[in-house]
Amino acid sequence: MSQAELLRVGVVGLGAMGAEHVVALSEHVPGARVVAVHDVDAHRARKVAASVGARVAGSAEGLIADAEVDAVVIASPDHTHAPLTLACLAAGKPVLCEKPLGVGVAETAQVVAAEEAAGRQLVTVGFMRRFDPGYLELREAVLGGRVGEPVLLHCVHRNASPHPEATTEGVVGNSMVHELDILPWLTGLPVTGIEVRSPRTEGLREPQLAVVELGGGRVLATVEVFLSARYGYDVRCEVVGTEGAVSLRPPARLDVARDGRAGVAVAADFRERFAEAYRAELTAWVAAASRGGATGASAEDGHRAAVVAAAGIESLATGRRVAVPPG
Ligand SMILES: NC(=O)c1ccc[n+]([C@@H]2O[C@H](COP(=O)([O-])OP(=O)(O)OC[C@H]3O[C@@H](n4cnc5c(N)ncnc54)[C@H](O)[C@@H]3O)[C@@H](O)[C@H]2O)c1
Repeated sequence: MSQAELLRVGVVGLGAMGAEHVVALSEHVPGARVVAVHDVDAHRARKVAASVGARVAGSAEGLIADAEVDAVVIASPDHTHAPLTLACLAAGKPVLCEKPLGVGVAETAQVVAAEEAAGRQLVTVGFMRRFDPGYLELREAVLGGRVGEPVLLHCVHRNASPHPEATTEGVVGNSMVHELDILPWLTGLPVTGIEVRSPRTEGLREPQLAVVELGGGRVLATVEVFLSARYGYDVRCEVVGTEGAVSLRPPARLDVARDGRAGVAVAADFRERFAEAYRAELTAWVAAASRGGATGASAEDGHRAAVVAAAGIESLATGRRVAVPPG
């Protein structure tokens, strides 16, 4: 493929996630090159731009409007997602927006409406677990009936330490939102109710434990999210069915015996655990965006996850189960 045929990508937000996407797009994903980047931290922007030979854009809006940018990755903080995705839709450009699609359901509904008005699918939401080899096998096993009818799921989502700007609502809306997206994707059933509790009543209220009802309660899921788990990044999922159980195996490649201990290493953070998923997601997105389209989780999926997250946040505040309106 010649330079001229490569999808010209602009990336907004160059922190842990955005910088990782820039490296993946430049080194591991065919068919694209990063031509422009923007971050409010100008020093960071210059450094990342220099590493891949991209331009630094003076603003996110300027990058999106740039005629030499074909498609956009948004990896700036959550509150920027919906406004910048709307700007991409207005410019008619494919966009990979990191999760969540927006903060609250009014924002995500606005994105869905704007995409509908644009008349074509341009929005991909960065729910990369849908591209993780382990989750894909798990889904195939569940939907293929390998363990009979699913009845229970157990999900665990732990980080070593919270993002400095983490909030109680964000534990649901930014972190648990991965599970809120993946549960319907794994089972083919919509979320119909949620209850979220935490043993902490003040400060950053975590760990959080949710009971999520799928398909009217035919299937129940537990979800633990603990951002301050200290020991590393650990994501687990087990599906219990009428004929057996199936679960993700930790993707460690090595058993290490040393200093009187033997075992598997735990990933330090999401970049290590989901490296393959991010690359697969970006590869699929570049292929879709090159045809002017989208892939993976849609704006509607992002909106649906936001609806369930809003119910979860309400449950945490009220201490009661909250019904989730049908999609
Ligand atoms: N899919 C995933 O697994 C995953 C993992 C981590 C983060 N994320 C998402 O990516 C986003 C960024 O998370 P992160 O961990 O990289 O955070 P981060 O704090 O490491 O990086 C955020 C970056 O955005 C920049 N920034 C702040 N305001 C901006 C603005 N208005 N315009 C442009 N840049 C701005 C900051 O300077 C910083 O460089 C979040 O929305 C998060 O939900 C997704």
